[in-house]
Amino acid sequence: ATSGETVAVHGDRPGAVYDRHIFGQFAEHLGTGIYPGIWVGKGSKIPNINGYRRDVIDALKAIRVPVIRWPGGCYADEYHWREGIGPQAKRLTKVNTNWGGVTEDNSFGTNEFMNYTELVGAEAYVSGNVGSAAPSEMAEWVEYMTFPSKSTYAEERRKNGRDKPWKLAMFGIGNELWGCGGNMRPEYAADITRRYSTFLKVPAGERLMKIASGANSDDYNWTEVMMRDAGGAFDGIGVHYYTIPGDWSNKGPATGFDEESWARTLSKTLKMEELISRHAAIMDKYDPRKRVALLVDEWGTWYDVEPGTNPGFLFQQNSLRDAMVATLNLDIFARHADRVRGANIAQMVNVLQAMLLTDGARMVKTPTYWVFDMYKDYQDATVLPVDVQSRWYNKNQWVMKAVSASAVRDKAGVVHVGLTNVDPNQPATVSVKLDGVTAGQVSGRILTGTTMDAHNTFDAPNQVAPQPFNGATLSGGMLTVQIPAKSVVMLDLR
Ligand code: AHR
Repeated sequence: ATSGETVAVHGDRPGAVYDRHIFGQFAEHLGTGIYPGIWVGKGSKIPNINGYRRDVIDALKAIRVPVIRWPGGCYADEYHWREGIGPQAKRLTKVNTNWGGVTEDNSFGTNEFMNYTELVGAEAYVSGNVGSAAPSEMAEWVEYMTFPSKSTYAEERRKNGRDKPWKLAMFGIGNELWGCGGNMRPEYAADITRRYSTFLKVPAGERLMKIASGANSDDYNWTEVMMRDAGGAFDGIGVHYYTIPGDWSNKGPATGFDEESWARTLSKTLKMEELISRHAAIMDKYDPRKRVALLVDEWGTWYDVEPGTNPGFLFQQNSLRDAMVATLNLDIFARHADRVRGANIAQMVNVLQAMLLTDGARMVKTPTYWVFDMYKDYQDATVLPVDVQSRWYNKNQWVMKAVSASAVRDKAGVVHVGLTNVDPNQPATVSVKLDGVTAGQVSGRILTGTTMDAHNTFDAPNQVAPQPFNGATLSGGMLTVQIPAKSVVMLDLR
């Protein structure tokens, strides 16, 4: 049976810009995210460019990663940048206390990260250590990275092989200050943020976006106090929300789940809508002109680790369900693009809802990667509001609209419409009404799979990958789209 869904795309009412930073990534010193997800070292047999694995660079460039957040996460508030600069052999070796208690040799430090962003073509979002270091340490780090003239730190950078300063786009004033970043009360965190922000300076003519550590999920009081007491001290504030099918003690597996878990996961991810609405409403009170951005600087699924892997490494598979989590969130971000001007999915390689998984010299692109690929034309395009009339899909008490959608118009005038059918059993016939959109032709791609947990493995890397889509017909300003069950379709209208 098919259904009759409608989506109205309002090309005549263009909204805010879909900021490209919403497609941001997060790379923490956690598990195999950095070693060997990014960095294998110059002597490695794995094909690399100056120590960075080549397959990962190529894959990230292909989805136009706009920004990478580093070095944490919880790792950030224990990180001392001086331990990760200078000759490799002299770098300090220490325990990664947050993530598995493993040895960190600091071979991937500031120079390696900043050079990597340039190689990938991304901007740098560096998170400072507020929880366990002085403001001077943060200020000196920024000087090391950004100062163009003569200073001891700039000279040190030159000695370490980098003459010109790097472009530092964003700087995080700590991470999760309410938890691993120092267990602070919001009142204290607000004061600390004002203090650290004071010493966060870049050379004249440079712009640095200062990001305050944001709320844990629905801790609205955090945003209230930070905005009220420190709102003038930052340009963006974060919020972290993870989608967990179960609870923290029994999160559920990444694959091999049933339909109840599918529906529960997708329903829980939709909480992002309420979170953003309510955090944004608080921000509106203190910042009606929307100067301060809301950055969802950690989001994504968090499952039980893959059997037999280190529990501290947060290594999980990534299935069609994760692709749906990604598109549902990207649609939500579109609806709030006036305030949400950045996001960092957790995390880029080998950790949580990753773009890429590696195993020795092998690499796979996950279903989430393919969503980021299919939606990449949203970057800096203009959001076109959509109205979705959809039947409900439910499994037990987990109820949601079967169809989710968003649309943008890019700078070349091409309109992109993203459609997701979350129902794992029923196809959808969607009538897309195009108001104020003149299009003569439609093309598209579809991402789907044979099962709810369809995924890519190192032995079968192309189980879930976009295919050309021929299920859309355009006639008289109306599109009719046949979307199979559990599918994502991206249409380009020219
Ligand atoms: O992404 C994993 C961890 O989740 C981060 O280190 C921390 O900020 C959050 O709690």
